[in-house]
Amino acid sequence: MNAVLTPPAGALGRPIVDAAFLADPYPTYRALSEAGPIHWSDEFFGGAWLLTRHADVEKVLKDPRFSAQRTGAWVKDREDAPGELSSFQKLFSRALLFLDAPDHTRIRKVLNAGFRPEVIRGLAPYIEQAVGELLDRAEAASARNTGNTPFDFMQAVARPLPVRVIARLMGIEASAQDDFMVWSDDLATFIGAAQPGREQARRAQASLLAMCRYFEALLPRRRQAPGDDLVSRLVLAEAAGEIEGGPELLAQCAMLLFAGHETTRNLLGNGLQALLSHPAQWQKLQQSPELLPGAVRELLRYDSPVQYTGRRVTTELVLHGQLLRRGDLVLPLIGAANRDPARYAQPDRLDIARRDGGSMSFGSGAHVCIGAALTLMEAEIVFGQVLRRWPGLCLAGAAPQWGSNPVYRGLLALPVRNVAAC
Ligand code: HEM
Repeated sequence: MNAVLTPPAGALGRPIVDAAFLADPYPTYRALSEAGPIHWSDEFFGGAWLLTRHADVEKVLKDPRFSAQRTGAWVKDREDAPGELSSFQKLFSRALLFLDAPDHTRIRKVLNAGFRPEVIRGLAPYIEQAVGELLDRAEAASARNTGNTPFDFMQAVARPLPVRVIARLMGIEASAQDDFMVWSDDLATFIGAAQPGREQARRAQASLLAMCRYFEALLPRRRQAPGDDLVSRLVLAEAAGEIEGGPELLAQCAMLLFAGHETTRNLLGNGLQALLSHPAQWQKLQQSPELLPGAVRELLRYDSPVQYTGRRVTTELVLHGQLLRRGDLVLPLIGAANRDPARYAQPDRLDIARRDGGSMSFGSGAHVCIGAALTLMEAEIVFGQVLRRWPGLCLAGAAPQWGSNPVYRGLLALPVRNVAAC
């Protein structure tokens, strides 16, 4: 596949995904949406329709004529790594995220039980403690230097926490968490790339294999002595005939870990970056901590950790005057929908007390994020503790360093410092 293809007339007349887009995609979304509600672009997986409006994104995500089965885009037209990619694609195509009814409905039911409100609430003390430990460690390291040396919030908190929490939910040993962080990063780098390269594909495949080997060793132990974790729930569902063992079960394990790790990390990083770059909002939250739940939702809207998802057209249809053929790939741009002026007053403004809140950041319809409640609770715990312990926190770096992943938007580093006044 070519690295960058020239978009045809109708898009922007220039590549969409470039350095400026990765640093700040919102002006490009605005330009796209002002140019029209739907665009064809060759830049994504060899060709896809881009949708920018909130109403369209929601409609497509709720419309069964748009299938979630889209992993074929990873292998389409690729001759460079067929063996590696096809086994990767084969396994991931069994994951909940990429299934349609009835398989989706069956597996979602099994997994929903593991995300019941009481299960999620039960994780709160563990998360409070884990956050406290990470903040203690960051504080100690910073103080050991010259009083308040800058430290990287991503390394100190945002990167290690989500994997710990998902590992706890799934019943994965603490000793495996560092491996999981690396494996999950490799999967996200591949899945998030608009045109993944050969090296990205090779690493993702190797990491997926390593992850599968880990679960293949864990599953027999859970079958023998199930606990109250999510992996145990899956093996009990397997015994009850609700889910197939082998690839179907492995695919859910790999997906859960990967789906909740990169995304939550980026909510914590993007959210803190947004708050600290808007000191009046930070102050307001200090003064009115009861605004925190709304603030977390606004941070999700303002800079979504997932910028777009994909759907495959199952039947020929016309959308905004464009003929969409069976098999066409459609990318609902979540990041653009969250800044749609038809849905939000002053959409580019961060307002933690926004009255027209809510967002597309967790998706919509049958595939709406299963981990949403867990994420919201986790983010409220993190921001709550940070606000209480580090009221004088401020940005310590020059320009923010954004990663190169157009789907999973996140910071490579977030240097911060806790001082009396920034
Ligand atoms: C689905 C975003 C955290 C597990 C989704 C979807 C989005 C999303 C947009 C829908 C994708 C689509 O329709 O194509 C996020 C964001 C998160 C987050 C922004 C954090 C900031 C989590 C966590 C977990 C998780 C913590 C698990 C521990 C899943 C799963 C699905 C999903 C399993 C697939 C659901 C289905 O297909 O029925 N997420 N997610 N997510 N998410 Fe999340």
